[in-house]
Amino acid sequence: MTIKNRLIISFALMIAIVVFIASILFFQGKIQRDYLMDSVQNYSLMAGIREIQYYLEKSGSACDFYLVLGDSSEKSKFNEFSGLLQEKINDYSLQLNNFKISKAEYIEFSEIADACNILISRWQNAINMYSEGKRERAISMIENNVLSYYDKIKERIKSEYEKKINAYQIAEKESLRMEKINFIISVGLSVLAIILAMMLSVFLFRTITRPLTKLKEGAEKIGNGSFSQRIEISGHNELTVLAEAFNKMAENLKRSETQLIQMDRMASLGQLAGGIAHELNNPLTGVLGQTEMLLEKLPPQDPIRETLEKIGKAAERCRKITKGLLDFSRQKDYTFEYIDVPKLLDNSLDICSSDLIASKINVVKKYGKEVPKAYISQPHIQQVFLNIITNAIHAMKHGGTLTIVTDVVINNYVTVAFKDTGDGISKVNLEKMFTPFFTTKEPGKGTGLGLVISYGIIQKHNGKILVSSDGDKKGATFTLRLPAGGIK
Ligand SMILES: Nc1ncnc2c1ncn2[C@@H]1O[C@H](COP(=O)(O)OP(=O)(O)O)[C@@H](O)[C@H]1O
Ligand SMILES: [Mg+2]
Repeated sequence: MTIKNRLIISFALMIAIVVFIASILFFQGKIQRDYLMDSVQNYSLMAGIREIQYYLEKSGSACDFYLVLGDSSEKSKFNEFSGLLQEKINDYSLQLNNFKISKAEYIEFSEIADACNILISRWQNAINMYSEGKRERAISMIENNVLSYYDKIKERIKSEYEKKINAYQIAEKESLRMEKINFIISVGLSVLAIILAMMLSVFLFRTITRPLTKLKEGAEKIGNGSFSQRIEISGHNELTVLAEAFNKMAENLKRSETQLIQMDRMASLGQLAGGIAHELNNPLTGVLGQTEMLLEKLPPQDPIRETLEKIGKAAERCRKITKGLLDFSRQKDYTFEYIDVPKLLDNSLDICSSDLIASKINVVKKYGKEVPKAYISQPHIQQVFLNIITNAIHAMKHGGTLTIVTDVVINNYVTVAFKDTGDGISKVNLEKMFTPFFTTKEPGKGTGLGLVISYGIIQKHNGKILVSSDGDKKGATFTLRLPAGGIK
């Protein structure tokens, strides 16, 4: 999974957890608030009923006292209390309208209110009768018509009051219980959120931070020059791609470093070799000339002839080597032109044709149709071709096939590949291919300079020479990249 997706999923998960926790807390809070509201409402109704009850009793006793004592202050007390009673009943109705209340409750109270009003008017009647001097009638009316009614109402109000007190107590209890539950749920959810967050952090740490640290350390090591360093990151994501890119970079740096060292070595070796070869050439010419002269003078049967001939051969070998060294060191005489590569290849094959036939080597040419001309120094590149073809012939002593392919143009380079089916090159020797004097040929046969010289020439062209082989007896392939110049 890519890091981008991992981060998206992690954050989505986090948001989901937060939303989940928040909604649970919200709903819990709402339930608790409802209970609280319920308890407040019932408390207020309870207080209201209590007041109605109080003023009802006060009005009743003021009426009684007036009828018994005939004290007019009791009459005005009655007026005051019954007025307050009515006020309280109205207040209570208003409250009921504001509260969410069941229909049954509403009807219950309406009946109580109506009964209270009837009672007040009956008391009022009795008081009026008394004031008019009809004391007996007033008292008998109270006894027959009011007392039992009054008791009934008191009973109903009492039961209403008890109901409200009950409801208030239950709601308060529930509200407290919910508060406790809320607390437990909040703590539980917090712990859960912490655990989940920690798990997510560990997951992100394992999959992002750790490989990132690895990448950083690896990159630092590469940056400090250890180009053999490789960064190993498992999986398939942006970091592994980055690690691969770093590894590739390190590989390229390593290769460039090797090439630089090689070039440097070549340059200093070229100077030294050139100097020595030059110094040796004159005395060698002397040795060869003198030997030939002596051989001419000596009679054919002279036993010294054999020794002289050996000296001559040895001197000839030395000349070959010095010539090679001079070729190697001579980095001048380059004349660059646009050259037809296939033609130059054919020309080089012609030069080697007798050796190719003698070794029973079949040449397969795969020249591309649209190969552009290469901008090269013809004699030098021919020397490279000859070196490579000669080496192939030596590697295929018992016959084989030499395939020459030239048609690919990569980044403005003409590519020429020589593939043989000869002895092949071991892994160990592959690394020594371009080392001066490295040869696997018998003494006298190889100088170990052919490929070194070729390397120098190709460098001079800003080209490339590459060698590959699957190992011993599996053939070898030499590939050249030469600067292309215009289409043929
Ligand atoms: N086509 C090839 N197949 C196998 N080995 C090769 C081939 N070309 C070169 N070599 C190896 O590279 C060595 C160096 O080659 P070179 O520099 O031309 O020197 P020389 O030919 O004098 O040995 C050879 O001795 C041989 O071992
Ligand atoms: Mg050679």
